[in-house]
Amino acid sequence: MLVSAGLVPGYLRAQSALLRGNGATSFAFQTPASKEAFRELVTPNADFFIRNHFGTPQISADSWSLEVNGLVSTPLKLSYADLVLMPSVRRPFTMECAGNVAGGIGVGNAAWSGVPLAELLKQAGPRSGATTVVFHGADSGDGEGVPPNTHFARAIPLERAMDASTLLAYEMNDSPLPADHGFPLRAFVPGWYGMDSVKWLARIEIMGQPFQGYFQQKQYMAIRDNGERRPITRMLVNSKFLRPSEGEEIPVKTYRVEGVAWAGERKIAKVEFRVGPVGTWQTATIAASSAAMTWTPWSYDWHIPGPGQYTLEVRATDDEGHTQPDARDPDRRDAYELNTPHRITVTARS
Ligand code: MTE
Repeated sequence: MLVSAGLVPGYLRAQSALLRGNGATSFAFQTPASKEAFRELVTPNADFFIRNHFGTPQISADSWSLEVNGLVSTPLKLSYADLVLMPSVRRPFTMECAGNVAGGIGVGNAAWSGVPLAELLKQAGPRSGATTVVFHGADSGDGEGVPPNTHFARAIPLERAMDASTLLAYEMNDSPLPADHGFPLRAFVPGWYGMDSVKWLARIEIMGQPFQGYFQQKQYMAIRDNGERRPITRMLVNSKFLRPSEGEEIPVKTYRVEGVAWAGERKIAKVEFRVGPVGTWQTATIAASSAAMTWTPWSYDWHIPGPGQYTLEVRATDDEGHTQPDARDPDRRDAYELNTPHRITVTARS
């Protein structure tokens, strides 16, 4: 994993820091009540979840290159230095795995730095009829029942690839991407579930028809009882507690409950808290700086009535009015988009 850190020449790091001002967006979180919760608003690299279908490839930045080809006028081949020396942006984005469970650890928020994909696509010039952009990863294998020698690859529509938010990221929280998170370069499609943010990017292929890759066709599908299939794409509204945590003992007094909520490409409009399972939903306070694509801190001052065990629940609503559902759609046969409310049990002691 340390392979990545040593391979970034000092002059490139310095240069990338200088260029970062270009289009950068800084974190603008409202200060939460507790220091622990503040630390958790930006997930440290060491604590960020890792989801790999195969092993982590160890790639040297010196020998690595990125190809952009397919239905383009000018195929490109770029070195690591070529990319790091391009004008860069730095943006806070939340990534959630499509299989994250309610309150699970498969979600994190970091500052990602890199080059907007649109810049490279403009240089390559998609030809007429181009519709699809495929990210090919360098990792392959035959784990988890995949056909032998399949490599990880995912596709997004050209239109989403051209959106200014779609990044080719080489830094995570101001450090070179750790090997497990995609060194030297990963795609980042903010607001879409994590599988499209392909790590260890080797090639970007522009196509004029739907991509038939295994991970596009066989996995990451919403499947209904009647056999209907729909590809998983945009993240759904979701939220979780940061404090207290499951099973925690807390004193009987007014306790500031805190957490985060996110809604993919949409903003969080409302967060509600209740003492479940039948209490009335109460509106929590959300950060005034609520923005799309990065999670929003929320808090609620809970007046604990007395000692005892309590079940706490949180749910969020996005700015298009979608609220987290109380229960999982019984018609679903897959295990993606699990966004029922996070529920925890705590004990209040006098
Ligand atoms: N990219 C490659 N090349 N191989 C993978 O297995 N996993 C995907 C995505 N990109 C994956 C990948 C999935 S399912 C998720 S949720 C995110 O990476 C997780 O990114 P992280 O491990 O940096 O948190």
